[in-house]
Amino acid sequence: MIIETPSKVILFGEHAVVYGYRAISMAIDLTSTIEIKETQEDEIILNLNDLNKSLGLNLNEIKNINPNNFGDFKYCLCAIKNTLDYLNIEPKTGFKINISSKIPISCGLGSSASITIGTIKAVSGFYNKELKDDEIAKLGYMVEKEIQGKASITDTSTITYKGILEIKNNKFRKIKGEFEEFLKNCKFLIVYAEKRKKKTAELVNEVAKIENKDEIFKEIDKVIDEALKIKNKEDFGKLMTKNHELLKKLNISTPKLDRIVDIGNRFGFGAKLTGAGGGGCVIILVNEEKEKELLKELNKEDVRIFNCRMMN
Ligand code: PMV
Repeated sequence: MIIETPSKVILFGEHAVVYGYRAISMAIDLTSTIEIKETQEDEIILNLNDLNKSLGLNLNEIKNINPNNFGDFKYCLCAIKNTLDYLNIEPKTGFKINISSKIPISCGLGSSASITIGTIKAVSGFYNKELKDDEIAKLGYMVEKEIQGKASITDTSTITYKGILEIKNNKFRKIKGEFEEFLKNCKFLIVYAEKRKKKTAELVNEVAKIENKDEIFKEIDKVIDEALKIKNKEDFGKLMTKNHELLKKLNISTPKLDRIVDIGNRFGFGAKLTGAGGGGCVIILVNEEKEKELLKELNKEDVRIFNCRMMN
């Protein structure tokens, strides 16, 4: 069995969401792929294809491990362990899980949540137990919490339910209808500009010290109000850029992110950093008429470029 899970971007409202305002997240088709197969040995074998790393565990070991001791395998192992516990399954036959991912890591695209949700689906599917999305999202959230100590539902929910979500106070609402239809027709570029210099928690702590942050969050919320009503790419792109300008006031952008956003403005409909900031990625709304020039300009920078669309 092969499971393909999306990654996510925050379209609007990062940081504001920490203070009880809304954020809008979107599942994108930059995916990870989890393959699960039965084996003849009494072992659980994990292969992280992109990192060229493998791990073998005896079947009876999985229940007693502390996933946090297993480095790059921790999310996958925690997802296997918690799914088996939840389904009350004692594994009797060995299985092998192969993981590959197109998602760049540690840059706000939810690569670990993507692998976590994919593993939960693969393991439950392997035992012919179909879990509901609510169960999958909850298990995924628990895995992130166990591994990170603290988690928000943004990544695991967006990746489970796909499409567009409004996140507020660690709860979500799926946005359907015209807004979703509009975004289905949008083409985006995710531009991985640079390694993040700081972790999300550090950036959140720095934003906490900004005196007029509440004013800025209110402005961001107005941007979201407008964005939810929009049906044309030009105006939508302008609002993405407006959100970026507001994020700049929170001091979480960098010169390189600003440069990429500027290119996204000149040769696309608009752009913004996505996620916690301090480096990482920019999302650009593509203007197909100027796409060639956009790519030409971006390729002058030292960046990685990913085409993407909403996944639902
Ligand atoms: O870690 P990231 O890049 O997905 O960003 C998280 C978004 C924040 O609003 C900054 C933090 C949060 O928990 O919502």
